[in-house]
Amino acid sequence: MPDPITAPAIERYIGDLLPRRDPLLARVETHAREHRLPIVGPAEGRFLYTLVRLSGAWRILELGACSGYSALWIAAASEPGGGTIETIELDPRRADIAEANFKASAYADRIKLLRGNALEILPSLERGAYDLIFNDLLRSGAGETGGVPNQVRFLELSLDLLRSGGVLLSDNVLCGGQVAEPSPSGAAAGIAEYNRRLMSHPALESSIVPIRDGVAISIKR
Ligand SMILES: C[S@@+](CC[C@H](N)C(=O)[O-])C[C@H]1O[C@@H](n2cnc3c(N)ncnc32)[C@H](O)[C@@H]1O
Repeated sequence: MPDPITAPAIERYIGDLLPRRDPLLARVETHAREHRLPIVGPAEGRFLYTLVRLSGAWRILELGACSGYSALWIAAASEPGGGTIETIELDPRRADIAEANFKASAYADRIKLLRGNALEILPSLERGAYDLIFNDLLRSGAGETGGVPNQVRFLELSLDLLRSGGVLLSDNVLCGGQVAEPSPSGAAAGIAEYNRRLMSHPALESSIVPIRDGVAISIKR
């Protein structure tokens, strides 16, 4: 779990106000706590839910499924329209858990798990076809491909897949506050570069919201 950007008392306050989750979401939260899995948690899950509802997104892609928690929130949000969610996970054990959670949900026929490395899977997906992309692997994306930080590759690949007017949501953009240090290192360095591009990209209108570990909301022109 990343260090919170907001004061712990505020995090607790927001958490205490959240409505009770359905039993499956509550079980996935407990499992993640017990096994220290890096899921978005209920406050951000609810925030994602609200953004998906506002966007009216129909075809959705998630980068980083983990045990499937955020995908379940997203599926619930897109329920009235009956949209589809494709979600990518590299770790086979996490992918197995996510798949079992999707099967146990009311959205089994609308969530598709793509197993493997997002860097390899993204170029094979349909360009300009997605209404909303949730990028939740910025913190796991330390490393480079051909001298380009992986986070920047994820941004380029995601923009190819997003339709005009589509929404890109990016989690962990504040990386525990490390992005604001004079010389961030590791994943924070790649995320800082991701943020610079996100905020100045001619095809994007972006805002960073300091909720939990930082969520960026971008609209593709
Ligand atoms: C922060 S977790 C996702 C949490 C999930 N979105 C949730 O809130 O329920 C990031 C996940 O991305 C996976 N991951 C990391 N690098 C990846 C890559 N290159 N391709 C696909 N998945 C990757 C990790 O195994 C991890 O489970």
